[in-house]
Amino acid sequence: MAQVQKVGVVGLGAMGAGIAQLCVEAGVETVGREVSLELGERAKGRFDHFLARKVEKGKLDAEARDAALGRLSLTTDLEQLAGCDLVIEAIVEELEPKRELFAALERVCRPDAVLATNTSALSVTEIAAATSTSERVVGMHFFNPAPLMPLVEIVRAELSSDDALETAFAFGTRLGKTAVRCHDTPGFVVNRVLIPLLNDCLRVLDEARITAEDLDTAMRAGAGWPMGPCELVDLVGIDVHVHASEALYEKLREPRMAPPPRLVAMKNAGLLGRKSGRGFFIYDAS
Ligand SMILES: NC(=O)c1ccc[n+]([C@@H]2O[C@H](COP(=O)([O-])OP(=O)(O)OC[C@H]3O[C@@H](n4cnc5c(N)ncnc54)[C@H](O)[C@@H]3O)[C@@H](O)[C@H]2O)c1
Repeated sequence: MAQVQKVGVVGLGAMGAGIAQLCVEAGVETVGREVSLELGERAKGRFDHFLARKVEKGKLDAEARDAALGRLSLTTDLEQLAGCDLVIEAIVEELEPKRELFAALERVCRPDAVLATNTSALSVTEIAAATSTSERVVGMHFFNPAPLMPLVEIVRAELSSDDALETAFAFGTRLGKTAVRCHDTPGFVVNRVLIPLLNDCLRVLDEARITAEDLDTAMRAGAGWPMGPCELVDLVGIDVHVHASEALYEKLREPRMAPPPRLVAMKNAGLLGRKSGRGFFIYDAS
């Protein structure tokens, strides 16, 4: 297992930009690929801002920031990932675009390059099956926001090789993350537990006729949660949580996995949580 020298990140949205930032901060040459240069620049702008704040807070010196930024190159051309030892995919959460991308990556990347997906709810095995070299495909499931959340789940698909899994594990650790290995099952580890649990909490809102504020207070004070469930779902995004619940329900068919109707109604009304300014709570846009 050779050490990763160059990494590609495909899709620089909320997750991909954070993952690319982690890579350059860890000293790794990184190629970020977006569908347009404008989107790439926008992502880079977000992480310039994040690093500038770290400098202001004294957590990073200006020289280290400049060096980190110098390790990132942006492209719209998949061919630019040819020299990467590891490519991490963080595009839209839909099976077909991911399968198309992995088939294209297989054509472009060296045969020994490891291909990782950051999918939350899709099957890594189904994504890997779009290639003829499934053994090099694994899951690297980071949490949002990637630069701050300590965990990465390293997911073994049906045909993943030990070598690919250990390369991803070692790389996750090198990024400063706490890495755990698991098999490719719906929701992997944390979401498999957390999604039905949050859904239970939100059903209690109606069952126990409690306010969102009081439910959050109860779970913080009575269960030791650092953040209440309503605040947490607002942070994750109501749409993201509904989508993840639907995906888990589709696979496991357990009623607790299905999104509570109240959440679906909120999503349809555009109440998406923090990002839309209103969810269970109201947020100041500034
Ligand atoms: N947001 C989260 O909380 C979270 C947490 C863990 C994992 N994930 C997973 O990470 C992945 C990305 O999620 P996100 O929240 O960053 O999404 P996002 O919408 O913020 O970003 C997706 C990016 O991919 C690009 N893209 C879209 N379709 C593409 C295509 N067909 N080919 C190439 N690029 C394309 C878009 O331009 C966009 O910048 C998803 O698989 C998601 O399930 C998300």
